[in-house]
Amino acid sequence: METPQERLLRYLDDAHAAEVGIEDMLRGAIARVNNVQAKTAFQQHLAVTQNQAQRLEQRLLSLGGKTSGGKGILNTIMGKVSEVLNAGHDEFDKTTQDIIKGYSTEHLEIGMYTSLKAYAEQLGDTETVALAVRAIAEEQEAADALLPLISETAKAAILGASTPA
Ligand SMILES: [Fe+2]
Repeated sequence: METPQERLLRYLDDAHAAEVGIEDMLRGAIARVNNVQAKTAFQQHLAVTQNQAQRLEQRLLSLGGKTSGGKGILNTIMGKVSEVLNAGHDEFDKTTQDIIKGYSTEHLEIGMYTSLKAYAEQLGDTETVALAVRAIAEEQEAADALLPLISETAKAAILGASTPA
């Protein structure tokens, strides 16, 4: 059975795997979306996500762990979501669906970091708590930026027009 500390390392590794997977998802979305604001929001969050992955790796290393390169549960969930959402009919649908996917992912991450924060609090690991608190705020900011874009791109579809990328 894993020790409480080993469990923490596993959670940090899972979070790292999630961020690395999300980097790929964001790159795909940046290439696909036909809305300038969505592209910008995804580009900004890609930089944040890369930074988050680095912070998680540094935390793992300083606790004597390392990244495993595993897939992580969040990526498995998002893979299933993508299978459904990538059935978009045209570029308008695909753009809206990429934003919905991004918005959903941010909330999965908020849940993941909320869990990490609570567990680290139980261990008295204030550095990991601080890492989680910062990440929650960053994911919330990204989600807040994406939410109004869902309505905007959904409307663009009915008009048959969209902000050129
Ligand atoms: Fe993230």
